[in-house]
Amino acid sequence: MKIAILNGSPRKGGNTEIMTDTFVKGAKESGNEVTKINLAGKKIAGCLGCQYCFSHDGVCVQKDDMTDVLAVLDTVDMVVFASPIYWFDITAQLKCAIDRLYARGKMGFHFNKTALLLDSASDGVYQAAMAQYKSTVAYLQWEDKGIFTIPGTTDKGSIKNLEKLNDVYEFGKSLS
Ligand SMILES: Cc1cc2nc3c(=O)[nH]c(=O)nc-3n(C[C@H](O)[C@H](O)[C@H](O)COP(=O)(O)O)c2cc1C
Repeated sequence: MKIAILNGSPRKGGNTEIMTDTFVKGAKESGNEVTKINLAGKKIAGCLGCQYCFSHDGVCVQKDDMTDVLAVLDTVDMVVFASPIYWFDITAQLKCAIDRLYARGKMGFHFNKTALLLDSASDGVYQAAMAQYKSTVAYLQWEDKGIFTIPGTTDKGSIKNLEKLNDVYEFGKSLS
């Protein structure tokens, strides 16, 4: 299937990007077509809530890099949200892109499968991010394919030493 993964971490080559690339490797090995999007390098403003998109076929009034992100999401079957935990939640960069999905709120989404990949320094810090994800999935009637959390990641690259990274690889590989 066609999959897009949204990486919400601003640290290039950091733990979340390694986790993202690990997922991509597994998913590609089993024949999926995967597009990785590093959100932090893009100019994506917050949703204005103006509902211009509701009366303009999902076109957002703001002309920024979210246009290209939405164009990709309009072609895929599944979207994976990946983020480090920042203050007990996903990063602002990922939240900004999720808010802008409002442009598909009325017309509907092309994808209907999702997953969530999170990493953090400490364990037990995932409640807010998971609650937001689960409520959104339930509200939009998406099919949750899995939630993965990898605590114990601090220094850049430290995730490579953790066994749980392999679960993300196997998850990617299990998809078809
Ligand atoms: C601004 C900021 C806030 C963070 N907040 C938390 C937190 O609330 N709980 C936690 O366990 N780790 C927290 N961390 C640690 C990161 O989640 C962790 O280092 C992660 O591996 C960073 O991923 P990256 O390499 O993709 O940047 C925070 C890091 C930053 C930079």
